[in-house]
Amino acid sequence: MLNSFIINTHSHVNTLKKTPIDEALENCKKDNIAIIVPSSNSQDIFDVDKFVKEHSGVYGYVGVFPEDVKTFGDKTLFDMEGIIKNNPKIVGIGEVGLDYYWDKTFVDLQKEVFIKQIYFANQMNLPLNIHCRDAYFETLEILKKYNKNSKVIMHCFSGSWEFAKECIKLGAYISLGGVVTFKNAHKVKEVAKNVPLENLLLETDDPYLTPEPYRGTENQPDYVKYVAQRIADLKEISIQEVAQASTRNANEIFNFA
Ligand code: NI
Repeated sequence: MLNSFIINTHSHVNTLKKTPIDEALENCKKDNIAIIVPSSNSQDIFDVDKFVKEHSGVYGYVGVFPEDVKTFGDKTLFDMEGIIKNNPKIVGIGEVGLDYYWDKTFVDLQKEVFIKQIYFANQMNLPLNIHCRDAYFETLEILKKYNKNSKVIMHCFSGSWEFAKECIKLGAYISLGGVVTFKNAHKVKEVAKNVPLENLLLETDDPYLTPEPYRGTENQPDYVKYVAQRIADLKEISIQEVAQASTRNANEIFNFA
């Protein structure tokens, strides 16, 4: 179990360009923030494996995300299994899912690779970190049909409160990031206000989606505290309550070694 102030459940800290990575990690240590770093494709699973072994307070996911499904090969799940068995700091499968925003030409392949990774997560008994963009109901249908025993995290949740309710009905967790601090993000604010604390997780998805007051600069993992503060304001409770609930949820989901 981790006694962190906050567990940032989705940070690409290993890909920061403008901020020195060691500095970003040091800032997290000062604030007692733990981080989970996702993979994107069948190559960077090895980089994430190495990165989390080298840094304390840093954990990882292995997975192939929708835009990189063409890198998914016969060997990919075998490689992932090898990494998981040799590294207890790999605590989930991610990021995986569907993305119809950029390119719809390989939707069938996206679905196929998503389903294969759901089966795999079920076999490994690990949670799924879900990337879902412009494919809300398709993602939910696939999860309903194929997921048996993995806990589900809707990463960087950007859907409506109506959709959030559907996810919560399935027992999924709603992970909120910097968008909740944006002035015009009415939908996500409504979700933040209404989501029960038992279903809430926190993240940054850095280097993207920098929260206020740093919007316009490169995002960093310790900025998750601004996300927590904004959610606390919206819920009219303290940041400690938000942080404690989300840390408790993360500990339940990830079984940290
Ligand atoms: Ni991401």
